[in-house]
Amino acid sequence: MRSARGRHLEGEPKLSGTASDIDTALNGALSQLIELGDIKCKRGEITMVPTFGRLPSPRVVVAGLGRRDALSRDVFRTVAAEAARYLRAHGVASAAVAPSAAPDDLQLESAGKVIAEGALLGLYTFSRHKSSLEESAPLQDIAIVGQSGADAAALVRGVERGRILANAANLARDLENEPSNYTTPTELANRAKAVADESGVECQVLDREDMVGLGMGALPGVAKGSYEEPKFIVLAYRGDPSTDRAIGFVGKGVTFDTGGLSIKPAQGMEEMKGDMSGGASVIAALSAIARLRPKVNVTGIVPTTENMPGGAAIKPGDVLVAMSGKTIEVINTDAEGRLILADGLAYARRLDLSPIIDVATLTGAVSIALGDVALGVFSNDDQLVEQLKPAAGEAGEKLWQLPPFEEHREQIKSEVADIKNTGGRKAGSATAAWFLAEFVDSTPWAHLDIAGVDTYEHEMGWIVKGASGIPVRTLIHFVLDRAGESAEVTSETAATAGD
Ligand code: BES
Ligand code: MN
Ligand code: ZN
Repeated sequence: MRSARGRHLEGEPKLSGTASDIDTALNGALSQLIELGDIKCKRGEITMVPTFGRLPSPRVVVAGLGRRDALSRDVFRTVAAEAARYLRAHGVASAAVAPSAAPDDLQLESAGKVIAEGALLGLYTFSRHKSSLEESAPLQDIAIVGQSGADAAALVRGVERGRILANAANLARDLENEPSNYTTPTELANRAKAVADESGVECQVLDREDMVGLGMGALPGVAKGSYEEPKFIVLAYRGDPSTDRAIGFVGKGVTFDTGGLSIKPAQGMEEMKGDMSGGASVIAALSAIARLRPKVNVTGIVPTTENMPGGAAIKPGDVLVAMSGKTIEVINTDAEGRLILADGLAYARRLDLSPIIDVATLTGAVSIALGDVALGVFSNDDQLVEQLKPAAGEAGEKLWQLPPFEEHREQIKSEVADIKNTGGRKAGSATAAWFLAEFVDSTPWAHLDIAGVDTYEHEMGWIVKGASGIPVRTLIHFVLDRAGESAEVTSETAATAGD
């Protein structure tokens, strides 16, 4: 079943661009509906109109973009996602989109990018483990139509990069949504290898023996309570052979967090299968970066383990030694993310990566501070935060800087070791960040606490239920910006982008 989609702006009675052509073909039906107030073009308002044979398509769907002064790339992305889901719900298999507000308000390339991104992110489902699908035929193809004379090549370029970015976020979503009995640390490493092979990234996986050989004691310590072997994944993308310098991403890869002996309550514990979403984000970001080929080097590091209360598990009061030599008193075995990141960050320092950005579902406290609206950023370098902000803006992902007050550091002083792994109830996200800061010294570093934004219980624009894929696209844009490139795609990279 085919459908054409028009879009329009709130408070503007006159249709423009392709929407006005469609209106003419329909003998003014759309402008009449607007005049009657049946179509208000509020953001996300969707109206289906039959075409009674006046157009090749049996129906037109008008998706409101809201007011012109509030129009942004994220509005386009959000409306594209909601309209795509609407079409799927109505059993539409193919549709053509006529973005009426572009190109004046939005470069054609950007329009193509955010429409593709929005549709692919919005249509995402995770159904691998369902024996039969409830959905009818999926929405299979979406064409974007422009007015004659429009720069079709720019549009295609935009669509291709939108597709690469959305596919990366959807890969992270797949990894995170997958139950922990499927995505074990070994399986996460295997998936990382497969992704690396496909996208042309170097991949190295260290096992427990390698870790111990390097002096890592924190990741192997957390892994002691589990039957699953820990892995230490290293992915390297080399886009600038003229230098050894490389950006470092470090992602928390706890494939299941029971809390260990400081065990979590049963209520909601199933969500802890997603405690590797920082690591998944790093793997997914690298896969897209390798396809977009910016002239910059990036190394992704993912320490991965389960956090289980087995007979050999670490116990409160135990002392672990991180790769940097710092000793850590384990007060609470549920503060395991910072432990494995200690080794991850020390390894990033060993490789001289700079800046270092870590991504982790680290503290419940960050969702008390920011809810599910924004991720929290802690950093020792304001300039780095200023670079992350536009990258997040590009992605439509919100981040908010939280304060690095020295006073909070006092809370992680230990009586028996160099530091302890928890600092009490107060400022829980800040004390976690100060713990990590111990392992980066003066390297420019930012810590993204994504515990509030990694999963959602409701659909909202390009957000779907389950894993969000945040902050994959922020990381990609950050790298592209550093390389001084927009997400340009050549036909060669586009061909490998898959669908
Ligand atoms: N993985 C959790 C944080 C988390 C909580 C992620 C809720 C997503 C949703 C982390 O390992 C953890 O357990 N943090 C503790 C730290 C505490 C023991 C200091 C927390 O936030 O309660
Ligand atoms: Mn925990
Ligand atoms: Zn955790």
